[in-house]
Amino acid sequence: MPRMAQFVLALIVGLAILTWAASGVVQTTAREWFERDVNTRARLVLAGATQSMANSWYSEDEDLQKQLRGLLRDERVMGVSVCNADLSQRTSTPGFPEEFDCLAVGSRVRAPEEGSNELQEWSTVATLPTGRVHVSVMPVEGLERQFGFVVLLHDLSYIERREAQARTFLLIAFAFLAVLAFGLPMFVTKWARYGWSSELRSVLRGDGKQSREFQPILSDVRALVERMANEKEDVPGQWTAERLKQTLNRHLHGEKIVILANREPYIHQRTIDGEIEVQHPASGLVTALEPVMRACSGVWVAHGGGDADREAVDRNDHVRVPPGEESYHIRRVWLSEEEQQGYYYGFSNEGLWPLCHVAHARPLFRAEDWRQYQAVNQKFADAVCSEVDSKDPIILVQDYHFALAPAMIRKRLPAATVIVFWHIPWPNAERMGICPWRNELLDGMLGASIVGFHTQLHCNNFVDSVDRYLETRIDREHSAVVMQGHRTLIRPYPISLEWPVRWAENAPSPEDCRAQVWREFGLKPNALLGVGVDRLDYTKGIEERLLAVERLLEQHPEFRGRFSFAQLAAPSRTKIERYHALNEMIEGLAARINQRFGSAGYQPIILLRFHHEPPEVFRFYRAADVCYVSSLHDGMNLVAKEFVAARTDLKGVLVLSEFTGAARELTEALIVNPYDLEASSNALAAALMMPLEEQKDRMRSMRSLLVQFNVYRWAGKMLVDAARVRNQERVTGRLAGRSAVSSTL
Ligand code: F6P
Repeated sequence: MPRMAQFVLALIVGLAILTWAASGVVQTTAREWFERDVNTRARLVLAGATQSMANSWYSEDEDLQKQLRGLLRDERVMGVSVCNADLSQRTSTPGFPEEFDCLAVGSRVRAPEEGSNELQEWSTVATLPTGRVHVSVMPVEGLERQFGFVVLLHDLSYIERREAQARTFLLIAFAFLAVLAFGLPMFVTKWARYGWSSELRSVLRGDGKQSREFQPILSDVRALVERMANEKEDVPGQWTAERLKQTLNRHLHGEKIVILANREPYIHQRTIDGEIEVQHPASGLVTALEPVMRACSGVWVAHGGGDADREAVDRNDHVRVPPGEESYHIRRVWLSEEEQQGYYYGFSNEGLWPLCHVAHARPLFRAEDWRQYQAVNQKFADAVCSEVDSKDPIILVQDYHFALAPAMIRKRLPAATVIVFWHIPWPNAERMGICPWRNELLDGMLGASIVGFHTQLHCNNFVDSVDRYLETRIDREHSAVVMQGHRTLIRPYPISLEWPVRWAENAPSPEDCRAQVWREFGLKPNALLGVGVDRLDYTKGIEERLLAVERLLEQHPEFRGRFSFAQLAAPSRTKIERYHALNEMIEGLAARINQRFGSAGYQPIILLRFHHEPPEVFRFYRAADVCYVSSLHDGMNLVAKEFVAARTDLKGVLVLSEFTGAARELTEALIVNPYDLEASSNALAAALMMPLEEQKDRMRSMRSLLVQFNVYRWAGKMLVDAARVRNQERVTGRLAGRSAVSSTL
């Protein structure tokens, strides 16, 4: 119970006791007053009655009876008895109680002197089974002698009734006053507090009238609110879909989230049987963002790239997903062959992709690709603007396909909060300088309120690039860039997985997965299995990976005939010559190694060059002894995290390239330089020979990190930062009388 309520309760109980005691005093006093009153009345009545009885003492009893009946007209008179001086009964009203017969009362009315027969007045209060009575006795006196006496009984039960009524009234009055005394101030306080807090909230949101009351303390209050919000969001404990949802509701008042990403989370494809099937694309971006979207709902604007995508949408190009759950929808944007060629294959994947990855592929920048990139960015920005349901939506722009979209969106929706997340590395300023349109790209991205990368290093590279190529003010203390009055925060947000990962939850046990894979590929009972899962991309170091396996077999003959490496390779960007060549090269390399070390019933490299749905991928993760992630350069790499998530049995070893963002977090993996074939093959050998206890220790530690640093935390942190920027922009904008932001965060 809150302390205030406890205090009020104690006060009420105390006052009730006091009132009860006070009512007792009131009762005694009132009773004395009533009895004195009755006594006086009785004496008055008796004075008159005894006078007239004295006059008619010697008349018939009938006369006396008449007088007694007259006395009984007073409803409070219970009875009257007339006694002779010798204490014998003269007459009485019917039913007169025998407790007060002449003899009993006579002893009280005799004068105390020895031998005296004189009668005296006397009165008392007595209790009968029927209640309390007032007894009053007065002598009947003639001129010379006393004839006898009259006993008058008054019923006092009405006094008790009045006492009870008075007490009830007092308690009701107390209760009423208590309610009034406590309720009224509480109501007034609550009402005033409600008024103040809603006014304060609207001032802080920036959508209320300018409040004069809060003006002097507004900046203090704002600072306090921000500090409290920070503390609240930084509380330890696991982030879940539910917590993310609550955070969104608290900070963003349930606004719809709009995600812009080139790749859609569900692709409708027509199978060779003519059926439409829904595919999950091989994409780290989708792996991470799809659970966030399921938690937050909203719209995911993406290129409709599946061959049956058009058949699945409604007339607004919307399709509700996930199938069967339908918690958000995809808005599909259609691209012509030319647009795809210039924007996706050309500028994004032949220009920016090799520019940002240090993987020794030369970037190609063509003017026509750039034109398409600009046009398609505008097309998607327009699609996003048509999907929003307020003038200040939250828009999450994903990846290098949309560097220009943030500024385009801001132009149409100046109050929107745009967050860019760049899923690939950002090169150093010198390398960025290669791009002929570097200034336009940076300018486009700075249309966002927040630009996020996986690592601090990439944030630093971005800020250095801005510093080198644009006229801006760099606020290094707060890691922000201010360009023409607009402020953009540059922040690291290392991406992750949902936790628990649903594919791991629903998968068969690791033993069953192992048995299935062993059966499927005819592996010997004592075989050892390595796994790699990637899009067929030159940045993934698949060539180096296979060469490391070859080196392992060269250096460690004990693994020949026993160790096989399954490479799940999803074809990707196959229209680009470089990818095409990679495809062929990997196939040739696998064939050569198999030729060199394979034998009847033993294949060192199992190359599976087709798309695998997540349940199949998780089957391999759970079956394998080792997973090798050998990226030559990677923003994060979620395959590494997926392998750890899949190993609910704590078995298996992760060998991880030092050039991935993941290597900064999964430090219990065997970290290698994939270019160093000696070191990599040694790490593979160490992994295959690692004692079970050590495997479990390492896996347990990595899993405990992923539990905490999951994708709900990633999204939560980013959205909370966005909410703060938004609040600050609103308040600062209002205080300055304009919407531009110029204060520090
Ligand atoms: O690494 C950047 C990225 O967008 C990833 O998020 C994703 O895994 C991959 O590229 C997908 O590429 P694409 O959409 O071209 O197949």
